[in-house]
Amino acid sequence: METPRRVEHQLTDKGYVPVYTTNVVEQPWQNYTQQEHQTWSLLFKRQQEIVAERACAEFLDNQQRMGMSADAIPKFADLNVHLQAATGWKLIAVEGLLPELAFFQHLAAREFPVTWWIRTPEQIDYISEPDLFHDLFGHAPLLMNPVFADYMQAYGAGGVRASTFGSEPLSNLTRLYWYTVEFGLIDTPAGLRIYGAGILSSKGESIHCLESAAPNRIGFDVRRVMRTRYRIDSFQKTYFVIDSFEDLFKATVDPDFGPIYYDLKGAESIPAGDVLSSDRVYQSGSGEGWPSDPDV
Ligand code: PHE
Ligand code: CO
Repeated sequence: METPRRVEHQLTDKGYVPVYTTNVVEQPWQNYTQQEHQTWSLLFKRQQEIVAERACAEFLDNQQRMGMSADAIPKFADLNVHLQAATGWKLIAVEGLLPELAFFQHLAAREFPVTWWIRTPEQIDYISEPDLFHDLFGHAPLLMNPVFADYMQAYGAGGVRASTFGSEPLSNLTRLYWYTVEFGLIDTPAGLRIYGAGILSSKGESIHCLESAAPNRIGFDVRRVMRTRYRIDSFQKTYFVIDSFEDLFKATVDPDFGPIYYDLKGAESIPAGDVLSSDRVYQSGSGEGWPSDPDV
C-alpha cells in the first residue's frame, strides 16, 4: 500500500502555518515503524498514569472497553468494532487538519477524523497540531458514551448550519468546542475531573488544569463560553466545568442556537482570563505565568 501523506504545519512567508487536507485514507498500519510504536507506547503509559486519578470515569472505563493499550499503535478497524457496537461512531483516518466544514460534515455523519501519523520523538512533549496520539487517546474513548456521542454528532450538524450564518456564529461555536470537547472539566462526587481531549493528551496540562492556582475554573454557561476567547499556544487561562454530560447536552443540543447567535451578534468577546460577576466560580485564578499577548 502506498503510504498516505503526512500533512503538518509548514514554514511559509507568513511564518509557521497550519495546512489543511480533506483526504480520507486507509490507516497504513503495516508501515508504522518500531520507533513509531514505541512513541505510542511511551506516551500511552506516561499519560495513563497521569490521567488515572484525573480523568472522568466515563473516559477511563471506555478507554478500557475499546481495547486500547500501550502494546502498539491501535488499528482503527479494531477500535471501530467496539465503537460501532456502542454508539455507531466510526474512526476514519485522515492526513492532518481538516477544513472546518469538512470536519463538521464528518461529525454530523458520526465519523471522527483521526490523524493517521504520530509525532516524532522530538515532538514528544509538544506538537502544534493534532496527531494520532491526541486524536486517539484524547478523543476516541468518550465517543463510546451514548450522551457524549450524540452531543458530538449534534455539534457537527450545528456547525454545518452555522456555516451558512457567517463568521461570528462559527467563532461562537468554535469556542464551545474548545471549552468542552478539547478543554472541558466535569464536576463529580470525587471532585473535578477532566473530559477534554486537549487536556487528556497533555502531560503538563492534565496536572495544571486541576491542581494549579493559576487558572480560573468556572461553571459552564453556553452564552458565556461562546463569547470567551482562548489560548492556542499555552495552557488555558480558564476552564469551564459541566455538571454532567446530560447537562451539557440539555444546554447545547436542545436549544436552537439561531436566536442565541443573533443575540450575540456584535457582543464584545471576553478575554480568556476574565472572571465576571455572573460567573459560578470554582476558582478565581492567580494568573501566574499567563502570557500577556492577546488571546485568540
Ligand atoms: N443546538 C445547536 C443549534 O441549534 C446545535 C448544537 C448542538 C451545537 C450541540 C453545539 C452542540 O445550532
Ligand atoms: Co482535538
